[in-house]
Amino acid sequence: MLTTYRIDETYDWNFRHGPSYDGPFPTVPETPRKDFLGIPVNARLGIAAGLLLNSRWIETYARLGFDILTYKTVRSVHRECYGLPNWVFIDRDDQVDPHKLNEVQHGRQDFRGDFTAATSSVSFGMPSKAPAEWMPDVARAREALHPGQALIVSVVASPQPGSDVSFMIEDYGLLAAMAREAGAQAVEANLSCPNVCTAEGDVFLDADLSGKVARSMRNNAGDLPVLLKLGHFADETTLASVLQAVEGSATAVVMVNGISRRVVGADESPVFGQGRELSGILGRGIHAFSLDNVKAAMAVIARDKLSLKVVAVGGVSTVADAADYFDAGATAVMMGSAPSFDPTLAVRFKQAHPEW
Ligand SMILES: Cc1cc2nc3c(=O)[nH]c(=O)nc-3n(C[C@H](O)[C@H](O)[C@H](O)COP(=O)(O)O)c2cc1C
Repeated sequence: MLTTYRIDETYDWNFRHGPSYDGPFPTVPETPRKDFLGIPVNARLGIAAGLLLNSRWIETYARLGFDILTYKTVRSVHRECYGLPNWVFIDRDDQVDPHKLNEVQHGRQDFRGDFTAATSSVSFGMPSKAPAEWMPDVARAREALHPGQALIVSVVASPQPGSDVSFMIEDYGLLAAMAREAGAQAVEANLSCPNVCTAEGDVFLDADLSGKVARSMRNNAGDLPVLLKLGHFADETTLASVLQAVEGSATAVVMVNGISRRVVGADESPVFGQGRELSGILGRGIHAFSLDNVKAAMAVIARDKLSLKVVAVGGVSTVADAADYFDAGATAVMMGSAPSFDPTLAVRFKQAHPEW
């Protein structure tokens, strides 16, 4: 199967040579302007943090009609990527059960089915170029956008061994200021990473800390919208307390990041290697319970009269999948993995629903 991200190649290879797509570039349907968190866009459809490794990737997907483009998570320090493999397909065609936290998933590197049914898993470790490299590249990404498109820059703190949480909170603030200076139209704090086992991986489960990070981002983002990327919430009490804690500082939450599970290969050993047992499950297999989490968030927002918006992500590869989220009240719908398998998704979605 052809994918724009070559899973048989390293992250650095994909960074330098990708995306592996040189057309055709279909005509993108013209659609009426809409509002996305105060930014005018052609459609509230986009790509979540991940696939868009740098400005070249953003340029290609902007040309393909995705209007909300997220620059893959960057740090205030250089960080190497984990080695191969980084992306495997999961051998199942049903939904991952949210209650079976210890259920092992089987991964492999080939996929022969229909891409709209693909469930996959990634393990990169949130690599980043140094700010001296990514900041000018964010400026290039901004220049590559067409009218009616928006650039989000996703950031994550890099706690050092022995550093306390105040360091992490400040680092998020510093990154918000850097992303704004570089040309971001919105800044996103990644508070959830299913394959990073250090403190920055599950901030979203701590309401107090999430609130502090949101305020730090808000204080440094100027007048840009602040988004927070959250992981899956197994219980609605925690979800409600996090949403209440970030209200007033965050403009929107992005839900749901890949769902963390143990992934093994045919020989039952960790498919990504020792020390990388857990990784984020993406695509078809997480659609149902990502949608449930988005609905639960919308219910809390309505009940508590919060001003937060919800940007939905998780298992979107068909028009019906995106419709599920818009019907649930999402302000925009993002895709993580599917645009690598089918770069023409935005064009088809716009043909079917110009009002999106
Ligand atoms: C190649 C790849 C890399 C990713 N890297 C990040 C990342 O750096 N930061 C982040 O917040 N999410 C990252 N994600 C997760 C996506 O933003 C998204 O939450 C996830 O893929 C679920 O959406 P999907 O079911 O449409 O794939 C990555 C996803 C993919 C496919």
